Amino acid sequence: MAALTVYRFTLSVLWMILTSLCGAKVIPSLQYSCFRRNLSYIPTSIPPSTQHLDFSFNYLTTLQRHMFPRLPFLQHLDLTRCHIQNIDNEAFFNVRNLSVLVLTGNPLKYFGRSSINVLEKIHKLVLVEIGLLSLDSLNLQNLTSLKELKLGTNRILCVALPMYSVTFKGFTLLDLHGNNISVIRADDTSVLRQMGSNVTLILSRNPISFIETGAFAGLYLKEINLFDTFISSTVVRDITGGLSGLNVIRLKIGNFEESTWQETVGLPLDYICVIYFQEIYLHQSNPSHLPSHILRCMANCSKIYLSRVVLETWEHFHFQNLKEMIVVNGKISHSSAGRSGLESLPSSSPELTGSLSETSFLLRLQFENDRSDTMENLRYLKYLDLSYSQITFNTKLFHGLSSLKELKMAGNSFAKGIFSQLFLNLTTLEVLDLSNCAIENIPLNSFHDLHHLKHLIFSGNKLITMDFLTGPSLSKLKYLHADNNYIAGISPSVLQNIPADLSVFDLSFNPIECSCTQTEFISWIINHQSVLKDPQLMSCKSSSMNSRVINFDPTHCVHRNRVIITVSILAAVTVLLLSALLYKYQFYIHYCFILLRGYRMSRQQECSYDAFVIYSSNDETWVLDELVENIEKGHPPIQLCLHERDFQAGKSITSNIVDEGIMGSRKVIVVVSQHFLDSSWCQFEFELAQSWLVLRRNASIIIIILEDVEDKKIKRLFGLYKYLKKNTYLKWKANALSNTRFWARLRKAIIAKN
Ligand SMILES: *[C@@H]1O[C@H](CO)[C@@H](O)[C@H](O)[C@H]1NC(C)=O
Ligand SMILES: *[C@@H]1O[C@H](CO)[C@@H](O)[C@H](O)[C@H]1NC(C)=O
Ligand SMILES: *[C@@H]1O[C@H](CO)[C@@H](O)[C@H](O)[C@H]1NC(C)=O
Ligand SMILES: *[C@@H]1O[C@H](CO)[C@@H](O)[C@H](O)[C@H]1NC(C)=O
Ligand SMILES: *[C@@H]1O[C@H](CO)[C@@H](O)[C@H](O)[C@H]1NC(C)=O
Ligand SMILES: *[C@@H]1O[C@H](CO)[C@@H](O)[C@H](O)[C@H]1NC(C)=O
Repeated sequence: MAALTVYRFTLSVLWMILTSLCGAKVIPSLQYSCFRRNLSYIPTSIPPSTQHLDFSFNYLTTLQRHMFPRLPFLQHLDLTRCHIQNIDNEAFFNVRNLSVLVLTGNPLKYFGRSSINVLEKIHKLVLVEIGLLSLDSLNLQNLTSLKELKLGTNRILCVALPMYSVTFKGFTLLDLHGNNISVIRADDTSVLRQMGSNVTLILSRNPISFIETGAFAGLYLKEINLFDTFISSTVVRDITGGLSGLNVIRLKIGNFEESTWQETVGLPLDYICVIYFQEIYLHQSNPSHLPSHILRCMANCSKIYLSRVVLETWEHFHFQNLKEMIVVNGKISHSSAGRSGLESLPSSSPELTGSLSETSFLLRLQFENDRSDTMENLRYLKYLDLSYSQITFNTKLFHGLSSLKELKMAGNSFAKGIFSQLFLNLTTLEVLDLSNCAIENIPLNSFHDLHHLKHLIFSGNKLITMDFLTGPSLSKLKYLHADNNYIAGISPSVLQNIPADLSVFDLSFNPIECSCTQTEFISWIINHQSVLKDPQLMSCKSSSMNSRVINFDPTHCVHRNRVIITVSILAAVTVLLLSALLYKYQFYIHYCFILLRGYRMSRQQECSYDAFVIYSSNDETWVLDELVENIEKGHPPIQLCLHERDFQAGKSITSNIVDEGIMGSRKVIVVVSQHFLDSSWCQFEFELAQSWLVLRRNASIIIIILEDVEDKKIKRLFGLYKYLKKNTYLKWKANALSNTRFWARLRKAIIAKN
């Protein structure tokens, strides 16, 4: 127990010392990094179990046997730029099991001849930039496991490997870039010749000026890199014979921008025609012409990669084995009259189509002001990349591409409305990339024929809607990238029709509108986060804080909607109630209205009648024969207002009642009879008069009871009843004696001032 604690304690102390000395452990007890710690010794505290030690950028000066603690498991040792000047013969004795040793950038003055020879398990030896003049100064005889030997940026003069290297069975890489090799003799390649065909030879940036004839004849290499190796066109002529007969799978030629030599632009490439190769990579720092006789030397290639190459005339070659062709930043010139780039592409040759079957053919061209024809002869083409090509697409461009699976057109621009035609008959298409094309609108029928489309990329456009998704042809869609568009929302009808198999939907970086009008969309987003790519990158447009869409709470919209609905219902009910009330009491409202109007006008008006007579038209005979006869024609004459006779035509009856009758008369005579009580009009007139007179604070109503009426009915007409009780009234009796008295009293009542 105690021992264990002590052990643990020791371990942690060791660990503390180690971290203080050597920065961070990368993987405990396996990987350590002492990168840039300015250490002048290798700490003895590094655990013996360490497998990987990065000791680059320190100050070691001299490597001796005792410098290293015993690290039997150390496999990878990086001593880059440690200011090492001396390496003793026994320097690596304690780290004998290394498989990778990096000594890059040490200014070696003394390099013990057999120091590295103890590393029998080494796979990779990096001796870059150590001032090495020759491999002969080192003994590497025992390194039979060596696979990669990197000798770049030294001053080595000869490509030859020591004779014993033939025992390096798995040797694959000899990197001699940036050395001082100017001559290659036939003998120099004899070891390489015996090593088998798996070796990559990098000779870039060596000033090769002479290659002895036969130096490469019959040599089989996996790859040869000759970037920036030939300094002038004269040299190219001189080395051609020496390269003759080389067999290589991958040939890399051309030059870089920061080329070491002056005269590299437009160097002849004729030497490739004496080499047998299957793949060619040609990169030029400045675009230059590739003559057709050079192109013909590529006829047996399975892969052609051309960067910054101007192709003049494409003749109809037989590219029998071509599987992939990549032209990056290339140009096709129009020198051949009447032929555009596409027409004259090698693959469009009718003889060629058959041999292109099952071809994965990549074509990435920058067409210069191309007028775009069709690709009818490319019916076996499976892969077409026209990204950033500045092509003017015509509607028939892709006609005939009946095997096309992948079409990339990023960074192009399209004429309006072209999408309804452009993709017709591309029934095998599975991947379509239309990113960064400034597309604003996709017509619904655009993808009509794309029944097998699985991956659609619309990133970086100006799309506002996703309506095209509802098309039945997109049912197989699995991946949809619509990030960086202008999509504020997707309507519920589109959401319901989203392809069932969709497993990745990228809507990030769209100005999503987080408002209650979008609740269905936002709820959809929240419920489909597993399908959406980077849902946390979907932020709300309007929010100043750039809040995430997934943090928007659509439930508060439900509450708000409930409140809105409730308020609306209440408002509707209130309006209905009010209308019902208005309807029911319209009569009284009208009535109040009239009263108000009359009250306002009363001050200006003089009475033109002595009395206004309210009566039922059934009692008209009595009114005309008795009342008018006795009152108007008696002495002094009294002017009565009768609605039938005196009301002005063209005015509403109510207005007449008020203007002419009630307001234009000093008194009101009410002729009460059975008919009067039955008539609502009469009652209305009476109530109007009564209210009016109450308003004027005088009671100038004269009531004539024309016949016996039921008390009950009078009581119902409350106001009248009240009147009858409070005031005197006249009762008509049809006999002569009482009549004389009746008329006298009536006349007196009318004339009476109030
Ligand atoms: C690093 O170490 C060397 C020698 O030990 C010394 O000369 C130099 O000043 C040190 N540099 C720093 C930054 O500590
Ligand atoms: C190289 O290998 C031989 C034989 O296997 C051995 O005798 C010799 O000591 C080794 N050299 C070194 C430097 O380890
Ligand atoms: C390269 O080799 C030539 C002799 O072939 C020699 O004159 C020249 O100094 C060497 N250059 C360097 C940088 O070592
Ligand atoms: C060539 O190297 C590869 C690995 O780079 C290896 O798989 C293959 O077996 C080697 N072929 C020969 C013939 O050594
Ligand atoms: C291509 O291969 C054929 C035979 O397979 C050969 O006759 C022809 O010369 C080769 N062409 C080139 C340019 O290597
Ligand atoms: C599309 O395919 C059909 C049937 O294969 C063919 O008749 C039609 O001409 C083709 N249309 C275009 C525009 O290629």
